[in-house]
Amino acid sequence: LVQPDRKRLIITIDGPAGSGKSTTASRVAQALNYLHLDSGAMYRAVTLAALDAKVDLEDDDQIIQIAEKSTVELMPQGVFLRVFLNRRDVTDAIRSPKVTEAIAPVAANPKVREMLAKVQRHFAVDGGIVADGRDMGTVVFPNADLKIFLVASIEERARRRQSELSAKGIEVSLDDLRANILKRDVSDSSRKISPLLKPEDAVTLDTSEMSIDQQVTFVVNEACKRGAVRQT
Ligand code: CDP
Repeated sequence: LVQPDRKRLIITIDGPAGSGKSTTASRVAQALNYLHLDSGAMYRAVTLAALDAKVDLEDDDQIIQIAEKSTVELMPQGVFLRVFLNRRDVTDAIRSPKVTEAIAPVAANPKVREMLAKVQRHFAVDGGIVADGRDMGTVVFPNADLKIFLVASIEERARRRQSELSAKGIEVSLDDLRANILKRDVSDSSRKISPLLKPEDAVTLDTSEMSIDQQVTFVVNEACKRGAVRQT
C-alpha cells in the first residue's frame, strides 16, 4: 500500500571519531526502515585497497588509480552493514588500526572524494537514507531534511573506541587512542577539501553522557517531526 503522505527523508549524521555516528545511524535507519550509508566505511575500503596494493600513500595519482579500479559495496545485513571491496568481505579488515592510521591522505584526495560522493548521492535518489560521516550535511547532501552533528568529550570517545576494538580482540591503550583520535580530529577539521564542519542548519547533540538508546530516540523524534514514520 502506497502512503502518499509518507515522506522518506534524507538524514545526515556528521561528527568526529567516536561520537557515536555509525551506531546511531544504523539504529535510526532500522527504526525508520531506511538505508544506512556509512561513508567512512567507503573511505576505509579505498584505504585498504591502497594498502593491499602497496601504493605510495603520498602519491595522489596512485591513490586515484586504486579508487578507480576498486568496487566498494555496502550491503545491509539486519542492523549491520557488510562492506565489500572487489566482492571480498572487508567489514572487519577496514576497522583495523592500520587502516585508520593510513586514511588521511585518501580522505584528503579531491578526486577520491568526488568519486565517492557520486556513489553516496546515488544511494539517496529516493530518500529514505541515514548517511553518516564528516561532510554528509555540508557537501554531499546540503539539502538534507534533517542534519545532526554529534559531539562527545575526548575521554568518552577514547573509551568507546577502546571497547569497540576490545570486542574484536584488539587491545589499544587509552593514551594511544586519545592521541590517535586527536590527530584525526585535527586532520579531518583542517584539510582543505570537505573538512569536518558543523552544517549551519544542523542540530548539535552532545552524546558524552547519553546512552545509544537516548541518541537514537532523539534523532528518530527529530525525524518524525519532519514527516518520517517510525516502523518499529
Ligand atoms: O568512526 P570513525 O571516525 O573512526 O571512522 P569513520 O567514520 O569510519 O571515518 C574514518 C575516516 O574517514 C575519518 O577520520 C575521515 O578522515 C574519513 N571520512 C571522511 O573524510 N569523510 C566522510 N564522509 C567519512 C569519513
